[in-house]
Amino acid sequence: MDTQILFGKPVSIHIKDELSKDIAKLKEVNIVPGLAAIIVGDDPASQVYVRNKSKAFKTNGCYSETFSLPVGTSEDDLLDLINSLNNNNKFHGILVQLPLPSHINSKKVLNHVNPSKDVDGFHPFNLGHLLEGDPSFIPCTPNGIIKMLEYYNIETAGKHAVIIGRSNIVGKPMFALLAQKFKVGNSTVTMCHTGTDDISYYTKQADIIIAAVGVPEMLTGDMIKEGACLIDVGINRVDDPNLEKGYKLVGDIHADSVTGKASSLSPVPGGVGPMTITMLLYNTVYSALKLLKTH
Ligand code: GUN
Repeated sequence: MDTQILFGKPVSIHIKDELSKDIAKLKEVNIVPGLAAIIVGDDPASQVYVRNKSKAFKTNGCYSETFSLPVGTSEDDLLDLINSLNNNNKFHGILVQLPLPSHINSKKVLNHVNPSKDVDGFHPFNLGHLLEGDPSFIPCTPNGIIKMLEYYNIETAGKHAVIIGRSNIVGKPMFALLAQKFKVGNSTVTMCHTGTDDISYYTKQADIIIAAVGVPEMLTGDMIKEGACLIDVGINRVDDPNLEKGYKLVGDIHADSVTGKASSLSPVPGGVGPMTITMLLYNTVYSALKLLKTH
């Protein structure tokens, strides 16, 4: 069977087009959606990620400011910065780039962000609302996947979705979204993780598989059912001496062996990746719009 490639870019463009109307509406009342991005330390992948976020905000008529703190920053200093950003009207969204250095308690820091500015959707208040089926801010990557499933008309209702990975950033919110009686959702959801005995037992029964484990090409063609829809969240660097940069990016899915058997596959790079930043923009604009409603 032909395997349809689910690119993120057209979905992302479609959402940004819709957002541009809201951004223009906000501009009429002198509101520019603003994001404060905090990064502690100099992890190169995180630096690239924050730089791309900042670029996307600027090119879409929004404001973004990056607060780069040295790796040795104390937890108290970080909490003080978050306090001041919580009270700064210029920012409708606050993002703390993860991972944080090990001497900082990430949970305490994320809990400090005002839930009404929590555009990552990582605060327990927002995660709780999501679990209840009444979400406010939804974490960006899982929400981006929902938008992709919607855009490509992938049926989810009554289907068996298997999520591989139980992170707070992707796996758990993805589970909550697909299990809800939402337009995209109403699936029977199974979550596999490092404690699962035989992952292929579950993946072979899946109509939809979301792979978010960070293990290069772990899901192979023999582990899936003919016609399954595959969403790859992994971005893994693997050595490739044939390339000038010495490495290549691969996902959690072995693209070659699933091609021809899966009905669709999101590629790495170019699949889910572009959606995460777009959904951050979406959440920040949504946050600014709430302000308009109370004007
Ligand atoms: N690190 C990896 N993914 C993310 C994300 O979506 N948000 C934040 N804040 N940090 C991350």
